[in-house]
Amino acid sequence: MAKQNGKLASFFADRLTLPEEIIFGQSEAMQAVRRTVERTSTASVPVLILGESGTGKEIISKEIHRRSPWSQGPFVKVSCPAIPGTLLESELFGYEKGAFTGAWSTKPGRVEMAHCGTLFLDEIGEMEMSLQAKLLQLLQDGQFSRIGGQQDCQVDVRIICATNRKLEAEIAAGHFRRDLFYRINVVTINLPALRERSVDIPQLADYFLRAYSQRHNRPGRPFSREVLQLLCQHTWPGNIRELENCVARYIILGSEEAIYNELSQKRVGPIPIEVAEDGSIPLKRIAKQAVREMERSLILRVLQANHWNRRKAAAVLKISYRALLYKIREAGLPRKRAQSAEKKAPNPPDLAGGNDVVIPTE
Ligand SMILES: Nc1ncnc2c1ncn2[C@@H]1O[C@H](COP(=O)(O)OP(=O)(O)OP(=O)(O)O)[C@@H](O)[C@H]1O
Ligand SMILES: [Mg+2]
Repeated sequence: MAKQNGKLASFFADRLTLPEEIIFGQSEAMQAVRRTVERTSTASVPVLILGESGTGKEIISKEIHRRSPWSQGPFVKVSCPAIPGTLLESELFGYEKGAFTGAWSTKPGRVEMAHCGTLFLDEIGEMEMSLQAKLLQLLQDGQFSRIGGQQDCQVDVRIICATNRKLEAEIAAGHFRRDLFYRINVVTINLPALRERSVDIPQLADYFLRAYSQRHNRPGRPFSREVLQLLCQHTWPGNIRELENCVARYIILGSEEAIYNELSQKRVGPIPIEVAEDGSIPLKRIAKQAVREMERSLILRVLQANHWNRRKAAAVLKISYRALLYKIREAGLPRKRAQSAEKKAPNPPDLAGGNDVVIPTE
């Protein structure tokens, strides 16, 4: 067991150390984040980092710590949802010997461990109200008391909080203290979703490609233009984490086709309803987009079913060869079957999920 834990520990320690130019990219939104990080790092004020899951809240909090005057001090992370309510208080603030049954000795909490460093409270929106009051006191005067303790302790800690919840809504619902909200959001950093910074996708994909090739000792061919286009068009609900995993899979499986199948599958589904600023819903545009998506998915399936033989595919689709070439280009699909580690094409997946169209092969 210990050996297994050791293995796991080294696996997680093996996470990528990201260079600055990769963390911030080129997009305007991330350049604004970089400016805020630069200005905030050196000031001892609480920072609230907001963003969807996988947008890099933890990475940015570490970057703030790394650039701060407390960088030689500890960076202590507390994941609020990972620790059940009652335990979170003792984990954060520690306890005195005899404070409760089982408290055999005094134990300092993570707040004390973070003295002269940074305390990163991940998913703060999940913290119980009773504990929020104690945190408020810490933010107000740097003081707290261990559970069962008679005296207040003083610490010098920079606090960074993160959440993917809308804290204003949590306040309105009575789940989050307004006074705490105003304490933790002296500076707020809003991390953009990856789909809002798609100009950064080629650079990120290339970085992960090189990093994972090296880590797994498997040479990864640079992505084709078509796959890069697909990566840039995808909406990435899991953000950078999802992109990273997608590239890692490509390295392991050695085939661009895996990416094609995965991303194309995700593209098939309800077309998002686009409501214009004036409240109108442009039917023609939405319908056109839906037809394009449908066509693209069907062409891809037929190409796969026919091992990317475009003449056969054109015959199956009952369109001319030239028309198919045009549509392939328009849809950003590869002209040739993507280079694959496998000799034979895999069976075409059920891309449409519930769509029971049978694709003829010859
Ligand atoms: N700016 C970035 N540049 C490059 N890679 C990044 C960046 N941000 C995040 N990543 C990658 O994405 C993964 C997720 O990042 P992180 O854990 O910081 O996200 P998060 O917003 O805290 O997600 P969650 O809300 O799910 O906890 C990391 O493993 C990291 O490798
Ligand atoms: Mg996180």
